[in-house]
Amino acid sequence: MKQKNIFIKTFGCQMNEYDSNRIYDNVSKLGFVKTENQENAECYILNTCHIRDKAKEKVYHEIGRVKKLYRDKKKPIMVIAGCVAQAENEEMLKREPYIDIVIGPQAYHKINDLLKEHEFNTKQEETEFDTISKFGYFDKIKNNNNKISAFLTIQEGCDKFCHFCVVPYTRGPEYSRPFNKIIAEAEQLIKNGAKEITLLGQNVNAYSHIENSKEFRLSHIINHLNQYSELERIRYTTSHPRDMTDDLIDCYSSNKKLMPFVHLPIQSGSDRMLKLMNRKHTVDDYLKVYGKLKKINKEIEFSSDFIIGYPGESEKDFHDTCNLLKKIRFINSFSFIFSPRPGTKASKLEMINKNIAKERLKIIQEKLFNNQIEINQSMENDIVDVLVENKMKKQNKFFGRNKYISPVIFDGVESDIGKIVKVKIQTSNQNTLFGLVNKKMKAA
Ligand code: SAM
Ligand code: SF4
Ligand code: F3S
Repeated sequence: MKQKNIFIKTFGCQMNEYDSNRIYDNVSKLGFVKTENQENAECYILNTCHIRDKAKEKVYHEIGRVKKLYRDKKKPIMVIAGCVAQAENEEMLKREPYIDIVIGPQAYHKINDLLKEHEFNTKQEETEFDTISKFGYFDKIKNNNNKISAFLTIQEGCDKFCHFCVVPYTRGPEYSRPFNKIIAEAEQLIKNGAKEITLLGQNVNAYSHIENSKEFRLSHIINHLNQYSELERIRYTTSHPRDMTDDLIDCYSSNKKLMPFVHLPIQSGSDRMLKLMNRKHTVDDYLKVYGKLKKINKEIEFSSDFIIGYPGESEKDFHDTCNLLKKIRFINSFSFIFSPRPGTKASKLEMINKNIAKERLKIIQEKLFNNQIEINQSMENDIVDVLVENKMKKQNKFFGRNKYISPVIFDGVESDIGKIVKVKIQTSNQNTLFGLVNKKMKAA
C-alpha cells in the first residue's frame, strides 16, 4: 500500500483529542501516516471546536492559511471534522470550495469510505448522529495510542441543554459505551504503556450502561481499573454537579488510584443565574458535593469553569460568584465571557454591556489566578509524586504532573519516563511547578 502523509490539527476539548487519535487509528488502514510537518501532507484534517467565540471564522481562517502553504504544491484532501463541522454541515462545502469532506463527530467510522470515494472527486458531507454504529466500529479497531497518560472516551453527548451550550447540538444525545468494550480498550492502552487513564465524556459522571439488568456506572469502571497493577492513576472529566452520586464519591475513599482532583464546573455562584442558564443545580447542591468529598478526603482539590456576563447577570449575581471563591479555593479554573452560540436559547437573549463583562472577567481571573499562585507557592519545598510523561523538546528537562494535574518541570533522567518519581519543588508560577528529582526523598 502506498504511504501517504496526514496532518491532523486538533482544537477544543480532550474528547476531540481522543477522536483525532481514533481517526488516525482508522485512516492508517488506508496507508496514511501521521506527519508533524503541516506543509507536506496528502490529507489535512482540522478537528474543530464550536464552544465559544468566532469558531466558524477561525476554521475559514485556518483554511486560508493551508491554501497559502500549498500554493505551489498539490492541494491536500481537506477534511473538516469536529463540532463546527457538525453545526455547519453542507454550508461549509458551499462557502469554501477548498474543503473536500465535512464530517461530524458521530460519523468518524465512515471517514475511510469518504476518503476512498474522494478519489473519484466527489465532495462529501456526513453529519448523521450515529453514535452506536461509530463506537461499534471503533471497538473493532485497536487503540494505538501509546502515551503514558491516555484518554478514553466512555460517554458522549448531553441531554442537559444548558441554555448557553452548543454541545447537545454538536455531539447529540447522551450515549454510554458498553462496560466490557471500555475495559477492553483500557487494557489495550495499558498494554501500550499507559500509566494514567483519563475517562472522558461531556457528562462523564452521567455514564450509565445496563447489561443483563445490571447498571454499570462510572464508579464501576473506576473500581475495575483499580485492579490493573501496571496502571498508576485514574482520572475522569468533565462531570456535572447533579451526577456526583454517592457511589462515585465513595470511590475517593476506596480507590487509591483515583486522583484527589475533581474538575466540577459550576458556571456561576448565583442561584438566579444558574436557573437562567438551566443548569439544574443550585450553589447549595454544589457546596454539598464539595463538603461530602472534602469529608471523605480532605486532600481533594477542585477546579471549575465560570461563565461571566451571561445575559441578565447583575452586579449582585457577579458578587455572589466572587463570594463563592471565598468558600472554595479552586486549585485552577477556566473562566470565559459568555459567547452566544447559534441555535442555543441564550443566543436570543439580550447581551450585557461588553465592557462590564470584560471588567468582571478581569476581576474574577485575578482572584482565581492569585489563588493558583498561592497554592503553587505553598507547595514550594514539598516533595511531590510526579508521573513522568516525557523529556521536553527544547530544554534538557522532564515533564510530568502531580496528583492535582499541575504541570511539573524538573531535572530528571530518561529512565524516569513512565514512572512516578519524587520531586522536590523549588519554585513555581501560576501554572507550573519547578523542581529536582531525588530518589531518597519521601513524598509529602
Ligand atoms: N459538560 C460540562 C459541564 O456541564 O460542566 C461542560 C462542558 S463545556 C465543553 C466546557 C465549558 O465551556 C463549560 O463548562 C462552560 O464554562 C464553557 N462554555 C460552554 N458554552 C459557553 C458559551 N456559550 N460561552 C462561554 N463559555 C461557554
Ligand atoms: Fe453543555 Fe450543560 Fe451539557 Fe455541560 S451539561 S455539555 S455545559 S449542555
Ligand atoms: Fe468544543 Fe465540541 Fe469539545 S464544541 S469543547 S470540541 S465537545
